[in-house]
Amino acid sequence: MKTAAILTAGGKGTRLNTNVPKQFLEINGKPLLYFTIEKFQRCSSIDDIVLVVPDGHLNPDLQSSINDRVFPKLKKIVPGGKERYHSVFNGLNALEPDVNFVAIHDGVRPFIEPELIDQAVSMCKDWHAVIVAVPVKQTIKEAEADVVVRTLERIKLWEAQTPQIFDRELIFNAYQCWMENVGNLEITDDAMLVELSGHPVRIIEGSYSNLKITTPGDFEWAKYTLEGKRL
Ligand code: C5P
Repeated sequence: MKTAAILTAGGKGTRLNTNVPKQFLEINGKPLLYFTIEKFQRCSSIDDIVLVVPDGHLNPDLQSSINDRVFPKLKKIVPGGKERYHSVFNGLNALEPDVNFVAIHDGVRPFIEPELIDQAVSMCKDWHAVIVAVPVKQTIKEAEADVVVRTLERIKLWEAQTPQIFDRELIFNAYQCWMENVGNLEITDDAMLVELSGHPVRIIEGSYSNLKITTPGDFEWAKYTLEGKRL
């Protein structure tokens, strides 16, 4: 059984107000993205890594990281698309034919623990669709035009993170169906497409520290936490 990771780093990262997309900002002389790749490189359950970068960022440094085998599991770097789901679909199309399971992870979540990835991949063999998530800590209101419609039942709410792990065929078919009939729905994670197909998605509880680096404050926190740790 072969499992590949697709690391999505195809966004332009404009929310940090930098010229460089956030996944390429450096910490200790290494792009933030490298800390994430390193976590997957260390997982015993992951065989291959496919990296998705913004179109035009297939630069010599990244290319030579494959040639120099900086990360021996990193097999391919492919260009991303306009929306995250385009980037994931490009990654899915780049998988080797013998891959059975795929773990899709945001390149800007460098704090994921390799042990949790291994546990989630193992669960996927029984459940076929597994997401890492944490219980919601706040009270969540549904609102329209700034007026509360209802308060959601917190005990039932989870905040979805990545990685999200799937049978390759299940996620590929869900994506292909979506790409052929793109509707008005905003696709905010990969599991949504599997849910739409009617297949159950199992949750494995993760950690609040698996932060998606989004704001300048998040990046400062990542810098503070990752500095001093070696790749
Ligand atoms: O924009 P957001 O923070 O939600 O992006 C989550 C991850 O998806 C990031 O690692 C980003 O680089 C990636 N992404 C992508 N292709 C896009 C948009 C985002 O691979 N078109």
